[in-house]
Amino acid sequence: MSFQPNSPAARDVAYFLHPYTNAKAHEEHGPMIIERGEGVYVYDDSGKAYIEAMAGLWCASLGFNEKRLVKAATAQMEKLPYYHTFAHKAHLPGIDLAEKLVKLAPVPMSKVFFCSSGSEANDTVVKLVWYYNNARGRHAKKKFISRIKGYHGVTVASASLTGTPVNHPGFDLPLPGFKHTSNPHYYRFGQAGESEEQFATRMADDLEKMILEEGPETVAAFIAEPIQGAGGVIVPPKTYFEKIQAVLKKYDVLMVADEVICGFGRTGNFWGSQTVGIQPDILSCAKALSSSYLPISAVLMTDEVYQPIAQGSADLGVLGHGYTYSAHPVCAAVALETLKIYEERDIVGHVRTVAPRFLERLHALGDHPLVGETRGRGLMGALEIVADKATKAPFDPKAGAGALAYKAAAEHGLIVRSIGDTIAFTPPLIINNSQIDEMFDKMGKALDDALAALKKAQAA
Ligand SMILES: Cc1ncc(COP(=O)(O)O)c(C=O)c1O
Repeated sequence: MSFQPNSPAARDVAYFLHPYTNAKAHEEHGPMIIERGEGVYVYDDSGKAYIEAMAGLWCASLGFNEKRLVKAATAQMEKLPYYHTFAHKAHLPGIDLAEKLVKLAPVPMSKVFFCSSGSEANDTVVKLVWYYNNARGRHAKKKFISRIKGYHGVTVASASLTGTPVNHPGFDLPLPGFKHTSNPHYYRFGQAGESEEQFATRMADDLEKMILEEGPETVAAFIAEPIQGAGGVIVPPKTYFEKIQAVLKKYDVLMVADEVICGFGRTGNFWGSQTVGIQPDILSCAKALSSSYLPISAVLMTDEVYQPIAQGSADLGVLGHGYTYSAHPVCAAVALETLKIYEERDIVGHVRTVAPRFLERLHALGDHPLVGETRGRGLMGALEIVADKATKAPFDPKAGAGALAYKAAAEHGLIVRSIGDTIAFTPPLIINNSQIDEMFDKMGKALDDALAALKKAQAA
């Protein structure tokens, strides 16, 4: 494709290496340029409106033009645009946000460490857990177990935790000491005649087997998203986390909840941990913490985790970890305002009010000839496209069924996410019932278009 010389598209292709993009395909197709946003809609540079069914990257919870967040950022910029928090320095937005997060936590937490992204938060988790075990003299207890298709970010340690197919090849990852246990997707991996509860027992048995094979004295922590997001919106089977946590307790392995997507109301409770019954020792969060208007993330830890870390820092003279932007005051001010808005507008109550419509409309797409499974909780859902509903057989990846549905959705003015042949929906939490209807009406049409295209390709 040739681009108008010096146009934004031409300059994008000339200068910009995009994350999570096939660079060669990008040179050919160019970018989709989004120019502005309003509520749950974004507009491209031709003025076309799209309902943003993913809230960007599962994150812009308050939609795309919340003026109060702009004001909060501006006010903080004018007062103190930057200061750091190293070496005993502090500022009010950081202090207030730490206190607020501890008060909101799903279990009693003691301290908060701030970073700028979900990946940095999970990297920090890895380092703090290593530090914690060193401080306790347990120098061999360092391994992390995550799940196949779990997503925890892309920095070196976070990418090692991540278990999705594209994050290791080409990068010499995962690092040693990062293991991936079974994926708890009942529809795909449940065996014939196995109930959800039996499947959950088998998943916990797999974890126990892995811990025993590795040696419990070498396994430090297990990390999981309450509901797996980027791995395909996998809702855990009934009793899953209850059984998993019993295994972790038995072998003195920490439970880390990655709330980067699920936190702040997404699943119909303030925390995903509350929805699925996780009692975390450590919790990481990001994204909706600031409605993603500015980058900020946080790691919360219990006092049992904090105390050895504090002692370790005293023994070594300093906690040798921290970022220039840890608790950045402008980001912290925007996060505080976001949390205030969640409370004032009862965003969790709103999610609970509209979630039944969201889930009803999502599950209704299960009748479409292309759809094998629909799944979701709160305002987090997905449908899985299959070639054969009865056998659950997927399409040949070369058919690009998910990509076809994604493209057709965009043509109808709907931005979704295709994860292979799974289509995900996590709209801004402010979405209303009529926008939910609009979203799924468009998706129904997109599935019809994808089916027609697949049939045409098969006939050719
Ligand atoms: C559950 C989860 N953890 C961590 C991350 C990484 O966050 P970031 O992209 O901000 O580094 C993501 C990103 O989507 C995520 O979904």
